[in-house]
Amino acid sequence: MREINASIPFDKRMWRQDIAGSQAHAAMLGKAGILSTADATTIADGLDAVAKDYERDGVPDDLALEDIHMLTEARLAEKIGPVAGRLHTARSRNDQVATDFRLWVRDAIDQVGAALGALQDALIARADEHADAVMPGFTHLQSAQPVTLGHHLMAYHDMIARDRSRFADNRARMNRCPLGAAALAGTSFPLDRDMTAKALGFDGPTSNSLDSVSDRDFALDYLMAATQCALHLSRLAEEFVIWASQPFGFVAMSDQWSTGSSIMPQKRNPDAAELVRGHAGRIMGCMTALSVTMKGLPLAYSKDMQDDKPPVFEAHDLLALSIAAMTGMVETATFRTDRMRALAESGFATATDLADWLVREAGVPFREAHHITGRAVKAAEDAGIGLDALPIETLKQIDDRIDERVYDVLSVDASVASRTSLGGTSPVRVREAIAAAMAARAGE
Ligand code: ARG
Repeated sequence: MREINASIPFDKRMWRQDIAGSQAHAAMLGKAGILSTADATTIADGLDAVAKDYERDGVPDDLALEDIHMLTEARLAEKIGPVAGRLHTARSRNDQVATDFRLWVRDAIDQVGAALGALQDALIARADEHADAVMPGFTHLQSAQPVTLGHHLMAYHDMIARDRSRFADNRARMNRCPLGAAALAGTSFPLDRDMTAKALGFDGPTSNSLDSVSDRDFALDYLMAATQCALHLSRLAEEFVIWASQPFGFVAMSDQWSTGSSIMPQKRNPDAAELVRGHAGRIMGCMTALSVTMKGLPLAYSKDMQDDKPPVFEAHDLLALSIAAMTGMVETATFRTDRMRALAESGFATATDLADWLVREAGVPFREAHHITGRAVKAAEDAGIGLDALPIETLKQIDDRIDERVYDVLSVDASVASRTSLGGTSPVRVREAIAAAMAARAGE
């Protein structure tokens, strides 16, 4: 029973939040006249002393005391004697743990937000460096149209910006204090719930007492935001894995963020990227774990809910590591822009530009222009040359409405430069996006 019942091995991680919650509760009990001022002061000093011990010696896995809440109360009694027993007046571990866990998740959100900001900065800096470096853009992982590396990196910047906004929404929604809901029904003591909420940095107290102790939406919201963020990191990691492969050769991973092989001396393996991709799966597993734990529970508290913490802690640790590793990889990778350009030029990536030229300059309906361009690609493929190397006679044989001016759009640089529509890959637009992103970061 002791082993299955205890949560101290993992919930001791919330000891700071538990002390802060108890301090706020004790101060409120004193102010409301539920405790004498002298007792409230004794408890406050005692809690400080317990916190000092935890800080210095760590928190022991005392299974007999079950959880961090019982352990702290026992430690407090060792310091101040029976007065310690007055701290739990008008409180239950149910509203206590709900409060501690909210405080912990709120801190986690703030940490993740800052770390993602650093990743955005890294992406912006590398995009700025390569705002006009041409690379093949892909659909179906087939060379599609040329884009710039800066544009590609800024796509990830935008995804990370959405992740940050999801975490910020989560924080705004969850910032209500359940302390004072007691076990499930509220309490007959004249509490001041606004006071404890304010002391703990919440925007105010939660309303319904049953919901207050049984709600774990804040933890699920965190895990869902973490899942989506991990999914984005995993896609970027996958790009690095592909780009670092020899057939692509788009990126040389730094020594710092890659490993050698124990048998093949030439290898530089993108282990960190692969682990970011792997960790995303585990983070998604954590989100599933808590969803399944919660889905069958009637109101109000059930002990199943003690299992809420391990998946959140695990997901947070994996996410924090993944963000740090991804930031390091982005900052230190060497982008092989010569190789990117060569491949962009070899894949007939300007075929759409030829079709668009026929539409614009010769009034050809797009579908017909598509067929004409298909024949030009075939001719270039047969000759083993790029579209822009096809002689004008060959192009004219394919369709006599084509003239010399077409060469202006057949180079990859011309193609990229022409895509000036809002959000397009033209370096002019990419630099605007970078400037806007930099201004947004500076204004935070
Ligand atoms: N260790 C418990 C948890 O983490 C604290 C709440 C226990 N409450 C109770 N009524 N048994 O959920």
